[in-house]
Amino acid sequence: MIQTLKIIQPDDFHIHLRQQNYLKDTVRYAEKFKKILVMPNLTPPIVSIQQAKIYREEILFYSKNNSLEPYMTLYLNKSLSKQELFEFRDHNWLLGIKLYPSGVTTHSEYGIDKIEEYFSYFELMEKLNIPLLVHAEVNDDNIDFFDREKVFIDLYLSRIRNVFPELKIVLEHVSSKEGVEFVLESQNIAATITPHHLLLTRNDLFLPRLNPHHYCLPVLKTKEDRDFIAKVVLSGNPKFFAGTDSAPHPVYKKECSLSSAGIFTSPIAIELYITFFEKNRCLDKTVIENFLSVNGSKFYHLPINQTTITIVKEIQKIPESYPLGNDKVIPMWANRNLTWKVISN
Ligand code: DOR
Ligand code: ZN
Repeated sequence: MIQTLKIIQPDDFHIHLRQQNYLKDTVRYAEKFKKILVMPNLTPPIVSIQQAKIYREEILFYSKNNSLEPYMTLYLNKSLSKQELFEFRDHNWLLGIKLYPSGVTTHSEYGIDKIEEYFSYFELMEKLNIPLLVHAEVNDDNIDFFDREKVFIDLYLSRIRNVFPELKIVLEHVSSKEGVEFVLESQNIAATITPHHLLLTRNDLFLPRLNPHHYCLPVLKTKEDRDFIAKVVLSGNPKFFAGTDSAPHPVYKKECSLSSAGIFTSPIAIELYITFFEKNRCLDKTVIENFLSVNGSKFYHLPINQTTITIVKEIQKIPESYPLGNDKVIPMWANRNLTWKVISN
C-alpha cells in the first residue's frame, strides 16, 4: 500500500482570498500551493489592472516565506475599460477575466446581465489571447436551481464558443455531467474542479440535516454528476485541473437564515484531493501530479513548479474552525479525520 507521495508542488487555479482583515489569514491558508489564481469578486470588484496590482502586492506582503505565486483576474463588467485589455498581456501575473452573471453568487451583483453586450470584449480577448473564466450558471429564477449550469451552457456558453472558437475559456468549478461533456467536445475549453464537487453530492446538503457548510455555488449535484466528473479526472484528461474555489465566510454568515454560498477548503485541499484519488483506488502519481500540478500551468502557459511536496499516510483531524480576522471560518468536514497529510514544501 502506498504510504508516501512526492509530487510537484500543486497549484490552485481558483481561490477566494477576500480582503482587509481576512487577507492575512487566507493567504497563510493557501501556502501549501505554489501558484494560486485569485478571484476578483471583492467589494468593490477588481475591474482594473491597477487595482489587481495593489491587491497582489497585499497578498505578497502577507505571504510568509515568499514562496506563493499569486496570479490575478479582472471582473468583467461595464467598468472594465477596453484599454485594460490591450495592456493585459504586459503583465505576466494576470491570467484571465472572470464572467459572473449578475446575482448568481457572492458579490456577483456587479456582474453582467446581457451577455450579448459583451461580445465586443470577447472578440478582443480572442484576438489578444486573454482567457475568459466563467461562472457558468443562469440567474433566471424560473429555472430549476440544480439545472443552472446546464442551462447556462445551452443558452450562452455554447454560443460564445461557436462565435469565438479561438477564445480560451475555463468553465470554472464544473459541477455537472453536461458541463464535463461540453468541455470534452470543445476545443480551447478547460475546466477547474473543486475537492467538494469530487467528494460530495447534493445529499450532503441535507443529510443528516440541513448543512450550510456544504452550500456552495454551483450547488452540489447528483451522484451521477459527481461520478462523471470523477471519471474524467481519473482518466487523466489534461483539460481538467485543480481549482479549489475555497470560499471562506465567517461562521455568522453561514449559520443563519439566508446562508452565504461557499465551502472553505484551502488549508486541507491537497489532502482532500488525495482522499478523492484514494477513495477511487487511483493513487497513481502521474495522474495525481498532472491534475494538481501540471495541467493548469500548461493551459495557462506557465512554467511547471520546481518545488515538490511530500504527502504521507497519516491521520490528522480537520479543525473545528480556523481564525478569519476577528471571526472564525468552518472548513469542509470540520472535526473529521483525514488520512493524508502534507508534510513538507
Ligand atoms: O460558493 C461560492 N462561493 N461560489 C462562488 O462562485 C463564489 C464563492 C464566494 O465568493 O463566496
Ligand atoms: Zn469561486
